[in-house]
Amino acid sequence: MLIFRTERPGDGDEIDEVVYAAFDRPAEADLVLALREQGAISVSQVAEYEGAVIGHLTMSPVLIDGEDLGWLGLAPVSVWPDCQRQGVGSGMIKEAINAANELDWAGIVVLGEPAFYRRFGFRPARELGLNCPYLGVGDAFMALALKQPAPQGLVTYHPAFDQL
Ligand SMILES: CC(C)(COP(=O)(O)OP(=O)(O)OC[C@H]1O[C@@H](n2cnc3c(N)ncnc32)[C@H](O)[C@@H]1OP(=O)(O)O)[C@@H](O)C(=O)NCCC(=O)NCCS
Repeated sequence: MLIFRTERPGDGDEIDEVVYAAFDRPAEADLVLALREQGAISVSQVAEYEGAVIGHLTMSPVLIDGEDLGWLGLAPVSVWPDCQRQGVGSGMIKEAINAANELDWAGIVVLGEPAFYRRFGFRPARELGLNCPYLGVGDAFMALALKQPAPQGLVTYHPAFDQL
């Protein structure tokens, strides 16, 4: 049975393996480790199938024009390669959005495929007046406001993202 749940103590090694496998390189797994070590993970969702972790996503706080306004950055999202395109990533993202809402966060930004993230309610961040710190990403930088009014400004991710 496939279940979606929040990360529990002891999941760390399996999460590390899933992130590494999904991206086929260590950078994103190292990022998750760095965020965890620095206490910067606000939402950590896993997908578990028959007791094994097959998917993981992280949300960490972002700043808007240097201020903490209760917004989160969704990244990275990882699904074990053999388990991709079967709804695992979508299920985790929906659960994580619900969790962020319940935890009273104000909004979420993500850098990803617009056609994929639009289905969860994300829209190009620049339509809301939110700008990305990375050049040339265009509409791939997306935002979902959980509270209104949404703020405007330059979004900056946790410093651990600088190593990517
Ligand atoms: C991207 C990812 C998290 C999606 O999870 P998933 O379980 O495969 O996705 P779902 O089955 O829920 O949804 C399928 C949708 O994902 C999108 N998608 C999945 N893999 C994709 C890929 N390699 N390229 C582009 N879009 C992709 C498609 O839009 C697809 O939509 P469709 O079914 O209409 O074709 C997963 O494929 C993954 O881990 N990829 C490698 C790591 C990565 O690139 N992460 C995202 C950047 S943070």
